[in-house]
Amino acid sequence: MKIGILISGRGSNMAAIIEAVQRGEIADSEVALVVSDKPAAAGLARSRAKGVETLVIERRGRSREEHDAEIISELKKRDVDLICLAGYMRLLSASFIRAFPNKVINIHPSLLPAYPGLNTHERVLAAGERSSGCTVHYVDEELDHGPVILQKEVPVLPGDSPETLAARILQQEHWLYVEAIKLLETERNKK
Ligand code: GRF
Repeated sequence: MKIGILISGRGSNMAAIIEAVQRGEIADSEVALVVSDKPAAAGLARSRAKGVETLVIERRGRSREEHDAEIISELKKRDVDLICLAGYMRLLSASFIRAFPNKVINIHPSLLPAYPGLNTHERVLAAGERSSGCTVHYVDEELDHGPVILQKEVPVLPGDSPETLAARILQQEHWLYVEAIKLLETERNKK
């Protein structure tokens, strides 16, 4: 598979995917392109340092469709056939989803359908949950919504702050995202 990764920030999930591809754990795939909508995203330096082609495509006052059209065109030019959202902080347009049916996936730090959206860990702690986790899912037009591919449960520990819970879940995100891509690769190889 040719993988495209969309980021807006730190890019630790992006780095986990690139590293798994580069060490041969995701064996039949390459990361063809990383796109950030934010020029200040810390992940940009990380993807470039790993030798992956990296573009900044800002929205610059355009409509969501116009912005997405430019990203779609860059992904299509490189024959990308799996798009991983990794901390990409924009909702994709219907035209983006239609351009890549069943090929856009996302990771979210909760056990979806519970706690979609922002401030996940704060809300999990405020509700007194005993566990949370992370989910890799296909993306549709709703935020943090679509068929689940894999989930991993992570305990909430006494004394957890949003930061300590986020860090414990993030470790599992890096593992889970790679497992989900391996699963999709295996399924495609069967076809
Ligand atoms: C992760 O927690 C991911 O689940 C959420 O945004 C965060 C991105 O972190 N969608 P990073 O940029 O991958 O480090």
